[in-house]
Amino acid sequence: MHKFMIAGGSHLKGTVRASGSKNATLPVLAASILNAGKSVIKEVPGLVDVSVMKDVLVHLGARVSCEKDVVEVDSSDIQPVEISEELMRRMRASNLVLGSLLGRFGYVKISYPGGCQIGSRPMNLHLKGLQMLGATIHEKYGYIIAEAKRLTGADIHLDLPSVGATENLMMAAILADGVTTIRNVAKEPELVCLQNYLNSIGGHVMGAGTDTLKIEGVHLSDLKPAACTVIPDRIEAGTYIVAAAITGGDVTVVNVIPEHLDPLLAKLREAGVNIAVGANDVRVLGNGKVKAVDIKTMPYPGFPTDMQPQMMALLSLAEGTSVITETIFENRFKHVGELQRMGADIKVEGRTAIIKGVNRLSGANVEASDLRAGAALVLAAMAADDNSLLDNVEHIDRGYDQLEDKYNALGARIIRINN
Ligand code: EPZ
Repeated sequence: MHKFMIAGGSHLKGTVRASGSKNATLPVLAASILNAGKSVIKEVPGLVDVSVMKDVLVHLGARVSCEKDVVEVDSSDIQPVEISEELMRRMRASNLVLGSLLGRFGYVKISYPGGCQIGSRPMNLHLKGLQMLGATIHEKYGYIIAEAKRLTGADIHLDLPSVGATENLMMAAILADGVTTIRNVAKEPELVCLQNYLNSIGGHVMGAGTDTLKIEGVHLSDLKPAACTVIPDRIEAGTYIVAAAITGGDVTVVNVIPEHLDPLLAKLREAGVNIAVGANDVRVLGNGKVKAVDIKTMPYPGFPTDMQPQMMALLSLAEGTSVITETIFENRFKHVGELQRMGADIKVEGRTAIIKGVNRLSGANVEASDLRAGAALVLAAMAADDNSLLDNVEHIDRGYDQLEDKYNALGARIIRINN
């Protein structure tokens, strides 16, 4: 397992560019299955999760070529072959191939992607929606088999605005017979990016970014090659922004879409962080102590759950007591124990964490339990008084492209130890 040796006492300074969004790239790569031809996807981040999705496409018979941050997928010869448990367990988002494989071939067999550190991650909403589109679903031995001669448009109302379920059903409806309406959908910016890609290959999708999607089914022959540019990663950008705040630095993050960061920036301003917003950039002037604030994670445009661990690290050093309520995932406080090892004063009661700000954090040996928890520990370690050793860095590599290089360019001192 790789480790990071992280020096404390950093004050980040300079400019850093956000990469393309992991959570926009993964559904677009999955959607390229629909298009029995070529898709050119630009601004693709160099992440482990993206590599896994590319491996899944190759496993299905796609030809995938990469040139820097441009990925070309030729899905002409894809077949709905079974996706093994080994592949599926490497990344939950592999389940995003469900809708496009079923829509194009009328058959798909995938292993359950399994839960992870942050929660059980069920797929009931995905499967219920596919059944409403006319699919027959069998679940046995840890596999999901979905079949349908041709899907038929339906009126679906999601129990909750699940990002993955919205994406899978949007993709499944592209080639369905008739019109599909999906209500109470996720409104994250990544859904708008997916809609734009689907429309660029010849789909007819409307409403992404609102509560209701409408998809008019087309035929496979209507789909055509297309190119798409992935939106910037609002969570990677947000992590840089919180890193600047926690280290009292002066950092400008470029290649951002500021409105995608609104829920985070509003909360940081409430905590007293100086933030200047440009057309495609955000500058943070950390001015030492932040004030305690309360946070409740919610579906977009609420405060993003993927920024909850990073904010907890920042609030561990705030003046006063903060309360964080995690409403999205049932087990997303694994980073609390690790922050406590660094001297943070945090109590967890169910889905609520009470963070009493302390004056300083000390270095410690800590472990990343998942992607964003790992990022939070990097931030805490950079702000701590002395060095920390962070283990299980593989979790971070899933969602942050060369994290140590980018933070060291801002003045951090992070050394990767491969052993
Ligand atoms: C996506 O996960 C993101 N991943 C997550 O980012 C993000 O935290 C999450 O959306 C919420 O914004 C990708 O886009 C690849 P959900 P997803 O379905 O689609 C429950 C990161 O760090 N649920 O919106 O899996 C589920 O258990 C990752 O980049 C059901 O109950 O999230 C959870 O409690 C972590 N039944 C809630 O909904 C279902 O059928 C939200 O999950 C589906 C979901």
